[in-house]
Order: sequence, then C-alpha cells, then structure tokens
Amino acid sequence: MTALGAQVTTLGDYLNAQRHLDRIDADALAAHVLEVGRAYLYTHPERDLGHEELARIDTLVAQRAAGTPLAYLTGHKEFWSLTLEVDTRVLIPRPETELLVEAALTRLKDGARILDLGTGSGAIALALAVERPDCSITATEHDPGALAVARRNAARHGCDIRFLQCDWFGDLDRQFEVILSNPPYIAAADPHLDSLSCEPRKALISGADGLDDLRIIVGAAPNHLTHQGWLLVEHGWDQAKRVRDLFRDAGFTALETRRDPAGHERITAGQIR
Ligand SMILES: C[S@@+](CC[C@H](N)C(=O)[O-])C[C@H]1O[C@@H](n2cnc3c(N)ncnc32)[C@H](O)[C@@H]1O
Repeated sequence: MTALGAQVTTLGDYLNAQRHLDRIDADALAAHVLEVGRAYLYTHPERDLGHEELARIDTLVAQRAAGTPLAYLTGHKEFWSLTLEVDTRVLIPRPETELLVEAALTRLKDGARILDLGTGSGAIALALAVERPDCSITATEHDPGALAVARRNAARHGCDIRFLQCDWFGDLDRQFEVILSNPPYIAAADPHLDSLSCEPRKALISGADGLDDLRIIVGAAPNHLTHQGWLLVEHGWDQAKRVRDLFRDAGFTALETRRDPAGHERITAGQIR
C-alpha cells in the first residue's frame, strides 16, 4: 500500500484521495512532479499519472507527512518578489524576514553600501538588490554550502552581490551605511527546535539564551558603520527588550522595534552617531 492508496490513476484521483496532506501541500507536490502550474491541476483532472510520476509523488507525500518542509521537497521558496532555490544547507526564508527588508528600504540613501550578515539562501541581499540596484551589497556567510546556494540565487536573478565566506564581519575593513542580519537566535534548549529538525542547526541556535550571535553582531557593528549608519536585526518574539539593551550598550540611538502581523516584536533597528 502506498501513502496515496491503491486507486489513484489520474490527477483528479490524486487530489480527491489525498488525505495525508493539506490541500496546499498536495497541490504543490503534484505541480512540482508534473512540472505544471497550479491552475493545470484543476483544469486537467483526467490527466493520467504514470507509474513513475505516481511513485515520485508518493515518495514526496510520505516525506512531507513525516515532517520534511515543503520547500526542501520542491527545492524553492517565495521570498519578497523572488523565487529562491533552497536545500537543506540553508534556512528556509520566512515571511517575517520581509519586515527586515521593508525596514531597511526606508533607511537607504542613494548609492548606499549595504552589508547582510549570515546571508543563507541570499534572501535579504537579493531582495534589496532587486529593489535598489543603485546600492552596493556585500553578504557574508560562514557555511560554504549555504554560500553556494546564495551565489546560485544571485546568478539566477542577475544580482550583483559581493559574497564573502567568513565569521560575521571577518576582516572587512570597509564601512557601510546599513548593516542587516537575521542571525541564529534560538536558545539551545528551546523545545521548538524539535519542529525545525530538517534545517541547519548553525542557522538556528545561538547559545544558552539565543543571544550569543546578536551580542557579537551588535557589539561589533559600530566599527563597521558610517556616521549615522543603521543596524537592523531580526530576533525572537521574546528578545526585543534584551536586544534593545544590547543596542543601547553599544551606543545606538533612535531605536525602533517593529512587530510582525501576529503582534510580536521581531525587528529592531538603531542608528550610530
Ligand atoms: C537564521 S539564518 C538566516 C539566513 C538568511 N539570512 C535568511 O534570512 O533567510 C542565519 C544564517 O547565519 C549563518 N551564520 C551562523 N553563524 C555565522 C557566523 N559566525 N558567521 C557568518 N554566518 C553565520 C548561518 O549559516 C545561516 O545561514
């Protein structure tokens, strides 16, 4: 017996019989295997599914039902206006990170130099590159696999981004008008990590309280910012006050924290004078 059941021979059968996944996931996996858009699924229910197609869908359905994120199964994820390639070397870009991009866009002067720390799939750097081609963007990442994904995404979208493999700021000696980061910020013992087991640990965990990397980034950023430059970071829903304290201790002013649609404080920005 397969995950789908024995009676599936057409696309319509598959969509009607699907009880293992929610409809969005079932549609996405069928569309991925058949290499069609979602509209095709509804307009071609009579489409025969060959043995090989059915076997491939079946395998993906089983993996999805076992908890593998949809984006790792299809190999892509929408972020901002972009379709990004993703695999298990990178964190799957999250919608709340678009708030970080929005907050940065309101602070970018013409021709600004931007630094994205821990670029992962390249999501933040690419979103800014397509919105503001007048700016120059540098993106750092310590994981070579993640950096390879980011480079592929930049090439796919024709974005000119300077990628560096290093530990946060590495030996960068230039200064930037805007620095952004969505660093790891989950505490090592956080029970939510169980539901994130497919994603890279180094993209998620940051010491006992989740703030080890934010301490490094906020503490070092003033040395890499121009006069009146901005640092913007994403953080956990319960970390905003501690992150604002880190910003103040490092000499930042004009602090602003933005909330996500659920009302949680998720993005903090500060200016160095
Ligand atoms: C939460 S993920 C964010 C990825 C991407 N910027 C995004 O928003 O989807 C954090 C990223 O920081 C990288 N990272 C972790 N520690 C780092 C370090 N010391 N130096 C540079 N990058 C690091 C991880 O490999 C991961 O890609």
